[in-house]
Amino acid sequence: MATVLVTGGTGFVGSHLIPRLIELGYQVRVLTRHAIRGRALPAERCTIIEGSPLDPDACRRASRETDAVIHLIGILTERGQGSYREAHVQATRQLLAAAKENGVRRWLHMSALGSRPYAPSRYHETKWTAEELIRSSDLHWTIFRPSVIFGRDDHFLTSLRHLFSQRLFRYFGLLPLPQGGVSLLQPVAIRDVVTAFTRALVLPATIGKEYVLCGPDRISLSEICFLLLQGERQPVCRSSSKARLLSRLLLFATLFTLFPLSTLAGVLGGFSPEEWSFLLSAWGGLGLLSMRQRPVLFLPIPWPVARTLARLVEKLPWNLPIGREPLLMLEEGNIGDSSAAAGDLGLEFLSFRDSLAGLFASTQVSLPLSKSGLDEEDGFRKR
Ligand SMILES: NC(=O)c1ccc[n+]([C@@H]2O[C@H](COP(=O)([O-])OP(=O)(O)OC[C@H]3O[C@@H](n4cnc5c(N)ncnc54)[C@H](OP(=O)(O)O)[C@@H]3O)[C@@H](O)[C@H]2O)c1
Repeated sequence: MATVLVTGGTGFVGSHLIPRLIELGYQVRVLTRHAIRGRALPAERCTIIEGSPLDPDACRRASRETDAVIHLIGILTERGQGSYREAHVQATRQLLAAAKENGVRRWLHMSALGSRPYAPSRYHETKWTAEELIRSSDLHWTIFRPSVIFGRDDHFLTSLRHLFSQRLFRYFGLLPLPQGGVSLLQPVAIRDVVTAFTRALVLPATIGKEYVLCGPDRISLSEICFLLLQGERQPVCRSSSKARLLSRLLLFATLFTLFPLSTLAGVLGGFSPEEWSFLLSAWGGLGLLSMRQRPVLFLPIPWPVARTLARLVEKLPWNLPIGREPLLMLEEGNIGDSSAAAGDLGLEFLSFRDSLAGLFASTQVSLPLSKSGLDEEDGFRKR
C-alpha cells in the first residue's frame, strides 16, 4: 500500500483530498505546524507529523518511508500567515531536499493559475519560483495550476456568503466591487481538483506535465455576487443609476453623521426635554424607515480607488481576505484552458453555475437544481 505525504493537508483542499486518498487505499502522512488541526482529519490510516516545513528535521521525519509527496502548502495573503517566500519557496526547498534524502520519487505540486515569471503579484511570482525548484529537481513531478476552487468550506464563496449575511451589510445594501466586478474567473470544483490529484498519482503519463485546472464557466465577479445574493434571497439591483447610488450613500452619510452630531450638540448645548424627545423621535422614525429591506446596489469602485482602499484595509487590525495582493490578482482575472487536464486525466469539469444549486439546496433557497444531480463530492455538502 503506497504512502503519500500531504503537506498543507489541514487546509481546505487537504480536507477534501485526504479522505479520498484514504478511501482509495493510501496510507497518508500529514505534515502540520499545529497537530490540533490534524484532529479534524480521519484517524484511520492517517498519521499526523507535527513540525514546520521550514525545519529540515521535520521535513525528513515527514517524508520518511513515503512514496509520493502532495505539496499543498500555500497562502493567499501574508497577514498573520508568514511570508509568501517562506510558505511557497522556502518550504518547497526544504521539503524537496528531505524528499531527495529519503528517496521519494513522485511529487504532485499545487501551484496556482497566473503563476509566471515577473508576475505583478508576489503570490504568483513566488508560486512560480517554487515551480522552478520542482522543475529543476530530478523527481517525477506534476504541477497543477487551479483557478479559484469552490466547494464545501472553501475560502472564496464562504467569505462572500459570510459578508452577505452580515447585519451591517444587509442594512447598508451596498456592495462595492472593483471596477464594477468585471474581472473574469473560472472557478473549479474541489471534486475535480481532488480527482486530478488522485488520478495523476497513478498515471505515469502525467509526469513532467503542468496542468491548468479551470471549470467550464467563465464568470465575472459581479455575476458570482449576483447569483450568491439571489440564492440568499436578497433583492439585488446590479446596474443602478447614479442618482440611486448617490441617494443611498447620502441616506447613510446622513444617518451616521447627523445623528451623532446632533446628539453631541444636545449634550453640549443642554437641550430641553421637549427638544430631546423631538430629536429622538425624529431619529427613531428615520432609523425605522431605513431598516426596511432594500435591494443590494452594486457600487463600482475604479481600480485606482480600489487600490487605495485595499492599502487602507491592510492597516486595519483584522486579517481580512482583501488587500493589495488579492486585488492585483482580481485585476488580471483568473481564466485559463484546462483541456490538457481534461484529456490526460479524463476530467469532466463541473459547472460552477450548476453547482450553486447544491450550495443553496442545503439552505432551502430555490435555485434551479443541477442537471447532474449533486452530492457531497460535487462540491457542496447537503445538510
Ligand atoms: N483555495 C483556492 O481557491 C486555491 C486556488 C488556487 C490555488 N490554491 C493553492 O492550493 C493550496 C491549498 O489551498 P487551500 O485553500 O487548501 O489553503 P488553506 O486552506 O489556507 O491551507 C493551506 C495549508 O498550508 C499550511 N500553511 C499555511 N501557511 C503556512 C506557512 N506560512 N508555512 C507553512 N505552512 C503553511 C497550513 O497548514 P498547517 O497550519 O496545518 O501547518 C494550511 O492548512 C495552496 O497552495 C493554494 O495556494 C488554492
